[in-house]
Amino acid sequence: MRVVLVGPPGAGKGTQAQFIASHLSIPKISTGDIFRANVSGGTPLGKLAKEYMDRGDLVPDEVTVAMVRDRLSEDDTQGGFLLDGFPRNVPQAEILKKMLADWGLSLDVVLELVVDDEEVVRRLAGRRTCRSCGKVWHIDFDPPSREGVCDACGGELFQRDDDREDTIRHRLEVYQEQTAPLVSFYADEQILIGVDAAGPVEEVTQRAMAALRRFVD
Ligand code: AP5
Repeated sequence: MRVVLVGPPGAGKGTQAQFIASHLSIPKISTGDIFRANVSGGTPLGKLAKEYMDRGDLVPDEVTVAMVRDRLSEDDTQGGFLLDGFPRNVPQAEILKKMLADWGLSLDVVLELVVDDEEVVRRLAGRRTCRSCGKVWHIDFDPPSREGVCDACGGELFQRDDDREDTIRHRLEVYQEQTAPLVSFYADEQILIGVDAAGPVEEVTQRAMAALRRFVD
C-alpha cells in the first residue's frame, strides 16, 4: 500500500506514521527525519537544509524531490511505503504523481490529520526527541519517567530548534499557504480521507486504521 500523511506541524504525523507503517508492514519515510539526520551528520545536504528548517520554511523543491526519488528507489519500498512530510506543496505532489506513474505506480490513499492550531502549539512546545534513538516524547501528554532521559534507550532528550513558539507560528502560516492546498488536490484525485487527530494517540491510530481499511475494502 502507498500512503501519504498530510497535516499541520504537530498534528502527530510522525507519531502516527510509526504505528501505521508497522501495522501495514511498510517503511515510513519522513523527509523531516532525513533532513535532520543530514543536519546532525553535517553533510552538505544538511548544511543547506538547516537554514530553511530553522526558519520554518520549506527546503527548495529540487533538493527535496531528488532526496525522495533516491529513497523511493530503494528495495524496501517495493511492497509500498508511508510518506510523512512529503509532498508538502502542489508542485511536489505533481512530481510525485509523475514519478510513480513512470514506475507504473500510483498512491492508494492520502490521510489528512485534522487538528486545531492551539493544540498544535501545545503539542510542539512540549515535544522532546531522543538524541540517540529518535523516539518522540511529550512533557505533558507522554512524559518519560525521568525528565530529559529517554525511557527506550537512556539517551538525552532535546527540543527541536524549530519548536520555538515564533517558529511554530511561522510553520503554521507556511502550512496554510503551501501545504493546505494539497487537501483539495487529493480530494480531486478521490484518494483523500480526513481523520480527526484530536484525543489520545491510540484513539487517533484506531481512527486512521479504520479509515485505511474502509478505503482498501
Ligand atoms: P517535519 O519534520 O516534517 O515537521 P512538521 O511537518 O512540521 O511536523 P512535525 O514533525 O513538527 O510534527 P508531527 O506532525 O510529525 O508531530 P509529532 O508526531 O512529532 O519537517 C521539518 C522541516 O523540514 C520543515 O519545516 C521543512 O523545513 C523541512 N521539510 C520536511 N519535509 C519537506 C518537504 N517535503 N519539502 C520541503 N521542506 C521539507 O507530534 C508532536 C508532539 O505531539 C510530540 O511531542 C508527540 O508526542 C505529541 N503528540 C502526538 N500525537 C498526540 C496526541 N494524539 N495527543 C497528545 N500529544 C500528541
